[in-house]
Amino acid sequence: MSLAAYPTTRLRRTRSAEFVRRLVRETRLDPAQLIQPLFVAEGELGGPVASMPGVTRLSLPELARECRAVHKLGIQAVALFPVIPAAKKTPNGEEALNADGLVPRAIKAVKKACPELGVIVDIALDPYTSHGHDGVLDAKGRVDNDRTIEILTRQAVVYARAGADVLAPSDMMDGRIGAIRKMLERDGQHNALLLSYAAKYASGFYGPFRDAVGSAAQLKGDKRNYQMDPANTDEALREVELDIAEGADIVMVKPGLPYLDVVRRVKERFAVPTFAYQVSGEYAMLKAAAAKGWLDERTAALEALLCLRRAGADGILTYYAKQAALWLREG
Ligand code: PBG
Repeated sequence: MSLAAYPTTRLRRTRSAEFVRRLVRETRLDPAQLIQPLFVAEGELGGPVASMPGVTRLSLPELARECRAVHKLGIQAVALFPVIPAAKKTPNGEEALNADGLVPRAIKAVKKACPELGVIVDIALDPYTSHGHDGVLDAKGRVDNDRTIEILTRQAVVYARAGADVLAPSDMMDGRIGAIRKMLERDGQHNALLLSYAAKYASGFYGPFRDAVGSAAQLKGDKRNYQMDPANTDEALREVELDIAEGADIVMVKPGLPYLDVVRRVKERFAVPTFAYQVSGEYAMLKAAAAKGWLDERTAALEALLCLRRAGADGILTYYAKQAALWLREG
């Protein structure tokens, strides 16, 4: 195709009025594409998260109310993250398997309050381990891949039985998707969706989240021997390919905005449902700059989300989900 030169072509014509800008717009942002992450806590562990303005650790009744509110705004799913009291954390994270634990009770509370709302739960041990890692440790203090998988498969079955619609392994162990899928089939959970945190990077942007769930204080070392090196994208494609082969229904790239190239490569290569996670640090940056008056929050936040969609994300986990849905409704 040869481009007719100026003035035959004036690209500003299609930018000249709102009607035509809307007509030629390639990417749209809809509340139905946003997933609201929610923190659940009991007793004195509830309350605001200092490093995430506007985010609160919710009690079960507050959770039920919030879920009804976000669903009314067109949001189709929430992702639940528990705040576990230090007294219940152990080296092997046994509390993750408690069928009467906080997450199973939260799943039931949401399903009762708002049956149509999709419930996504994290499959990982970090809220439950006394050392804050996503799995159990071997004698050398490294996360033991295969022993961790064995626990994760049981955690997945407990949460699926409690009524979770989507199980989201966020641990980055090798082979966990296949192992969990096999266990779910054996348990008759044929419709349990697996949303794999397939390309999850060892990122500096998770800090506020670790504050929120209280895993920051005790975390020894970093997660670089299981989460991915931010320098790599070929490896992300291998991770995604394996997870699809093992039975993932949806794959996710995390964090979001610094990893748009990864989202794009994954979506182009595999053409499967692909999500991005705009993580806590991305949210905190926008909030902090907005609070200083350095950014217009609405413009910048909606732009960040739109750009994740443009890069190829079908759905986005974002702490802005409810606020964005409200902004989008205002038009
Ligand atoms: C842990 C988990 C993390 C996040 C989601 N699940 C933190 C981590 O890997 O240390 C981060 C989310 C965020 O920063 O918003 N399995």
